[in-house]
Amino acid sequence: MSNPFFTSEEDDAIAQFLRDGYLVFSIEDLTLLDAVKKNIYRAAAALINNKDQLSEDDFFDKIHEIISVKELNDFRVKLIADMAEDQTVRPSIYSLAKKQIHWLVGNELAMQRNCNLSIQFPGDDSSLLPLHSDVWSGNSPYEIVFWLPFVNCYDTKSMFILPRSQSEEVFRNFKQYSSLTAEDFYQKIKDQLVWLDVKYGQGVIFSHSLLHGNRVNGQAETRWTINVRFKSLLSPYGTKELGESFLPITMRPVTRIGYNYIKPEC
Ligand SMILES: [Fe+2]
Repeated sequence: MSNPFFTSEEDDAIAQFLRDGYLVFSIEDLTLLDAVKKNIYRAAAALINNKDQLSEDDFFDKIHEIISVKELNDFRVKLIADMAEDQTVRPSIYSLAKKQIHWLVGNELAMQRNCNLSIQFPGDDSSLLPLHSDVWSGNSPYEIVFWLPFVNCYDTKSMFILPRSQSEEVFRNFKQYSSLTAEDFYQKIKDQLVWLDVKYGQGVIFSHSLLHGNRVNGQAETRWTINVRFKSLLSPYGTKELGESFLPITMRPVTRIGYNYIKPEC
């Protein structure tokens, strides 16, 4: 049933998110997205001294042709450090999904301190995320992940998620899964998983409380994604607390005054 306080576009996105636990959407500001991608290209190309080996267009999909799996983690960590120093990265990433985050989370927000960068080479099994819920490792179920690809993601070049009703069904009957190995757990529910088909120019917001993960990338191209968490500033925190893992980004003045309210002393 629609909520008269929401626009119909907002209402549709909310209904979809409540049903599936995720939302795939088109990024409206493609100029900003291209600028973010170009910044990452420049930093990455400088790190590995890419001269003419790969054109800018091919760089992301084909980077596995010029660096090895052994070099990958060091490269990724340096790139994340470069991104963390650039004060424009977090506001730009927020801006790309601002409308959808406001619809699904609210407008008074905390954002994860650092944006994570994931780079998955074809056939590489060294950085896999088995089926999991982030709540199991201390995150609050009141958070979402904004997942932003810099290449077209499909099949095993993408990530999988178990939609909300199926994830909740697994949690309700968890006794029958809790003693399984990660691989057996995956095999048991793999037919219900949705592999997200997300092109460059699109983004995903998902509830990381739901079961999700990835497998060895069986495509011939590398996957590049940024992921970063957002939550409503005043919603409950897990072990990743405000001021440590999360920083307030859009605190409104009334909340600021409320926080600083001084009870008159008699
Ligand atoms: Fe996760």
